[in-house]
Amino acid sequence: MREFAALPPAFVWGAATSAYQIEGAVAADGRKPSIWDTFCRVPGAIDNGDTGDVAADHYHRVPEDVALMKRLGLDAYRFSIAWPRVIPDGRGQVNAAGLDFYDRLVDQLLAAGVTPFATLYHWDLPQALQDLGGWPARDTAYAFADYAAVVAARLGDRVTDWMTMNEPLCSAWIGHLDGTMAPGEKSLARAIPASHHLLLAHGLGMAAVRASAPRPAEVGIVLNLSPIEPASDRPEDVAAAHRADGHTNRWWLDPVYGRGYPADMIATYGIEPPVQAGDLEAIAAPTEFFGLNYYFRQLIADDPAAPAPHGRQVPVEGALETAMGWEVHADGLEQLLLRVTNEYGVPKIYVTENGSAWADTPGPDGTVEDKQRTAYLEDHLAACASAVAQGAPLAGYFAWSLLDNFEWAYGYDKRFGLVHVDYDTQVRTIKNSGHRYAEIIRNHRAEVTAPVA
Ligand code: FCB
Repeated sequence: MREFAALPPAFVWGAATSAYQIEGAVAADGRKPSIWDTFCRVPGAIDNGDTGDVAADHYHRVPEDVALMKRLGLDAYRFSIAWPRVIPDGRGQVNAAGLDFYDRLVDQLLAAGVTPFATLYHWDLPQALQDLGGWPARDTAYAFADYAAVVAARLGDRVTDWMTMNEPLCSAWIGHLDGTMAPGEKSLARAIPASHHLLLAHGLGMAAVRASAPRPAEVGIVLNLSPIEPASDRPEDVAAAHRADGHTNRWWLDPVYGRGYPADMIATYGIEPPVQAGDLEAIAAPTEFFGLNYYFRQLIADDPAAPAPHGRQVPVEGALETAMGWEVHADGLEQLLLRVTNEYGVPKIYVTENGSAWADTPGPDGTVEDKQRTAYLEDHLAACASAVAQGAPLAGYFAWSLLDNFEWAYGYDKRFGLVHVDYDTQVRTIKNSGHRYAEIIRNHRAEVTAPVA
């Protein structure tokens, strides 16, 4: 019996990263600061005072990192393009050197037989645009569309798979409501317009990519979803779980799939998103695929004293937790794949991120025996296969992450990579989970190409 038998023959095996988390070289070749460069300077904002200044130094190590992808046998690589490299002030002057960097990356990927999947926005808003109001300001969505057009015009002869936004939930809710990510605000009155303008940017950006790319493009959005369960059968907890589902899942899925913003959530927030004529149509324009990032489920208890949506996440008793404190729950991935299939009718899905952080300790010979990451990977791939067997149009899986990297507010302590990075020397070592992933990929390929007996 072959492994993960239900996964389709053309399944895309990938790994993902994002620009600010791996590139470093924050002042090289004309790049200007993003909101994350600024946020990293806020005392106490990032564990250990870490910054993305050097990160995994990927900017200077593209050939080596592409060679790693080849060794792993990846079909595809999901990376993000840094807006502050390409248009350092957010709008206006294009920085040729910034575009050249991604141009070279794409060429090297293609030469290695790795298909590029490009994300246009993975949280690194040019600081100059933040100074003009950031995502709460409508103009930021227009600036994004202009930037998307510039990138698609340059790379779209070779890149055909595009993602507009990565996890707008994190930008809107964590960046503007919880305040623990850049730009570090705590205001529902700013978070709501930010959420709308992020989605509008997806819609306008998608149109811009289609109009500017020389070749037909497949475009999608990447959302991080969580299955939500009430902490008890109490009606208050059940209602709180429904609100949390609205906050985490429906607020994003509903407008993208043509249902507009959920009315119950507008009532919960008491604030209308600043929708103008044509916005909802732009946001709901058809996508070729849906990108799902999955990490954990949420158990929710009612908490009237908490800010909207008035709920509190409670721990799952006896749960196995990763170094992030996130419960390992592979069934949740299967549930979400089936939900977007059955409830939203998505035509094609990629798992654009899924992975786990553990306290990896390299052995004396440098090997990393990360059994828990391997088990996590296998269990989540089994969940993918099970969802496919039940009809989910899943076309690929991107492990988070190719490399250990800068894990936002948690800094470098939280390691998600299939490849270990020694930050003192920048030496890369494939962890055992990476070797296992390569084996899974090889096995799948051998099975699907084997002649029928
Ligand atoms: C996701 C982010 C990604 C990474 C993982 C662990 O929310 O998209 O950049 O930080 O979490």
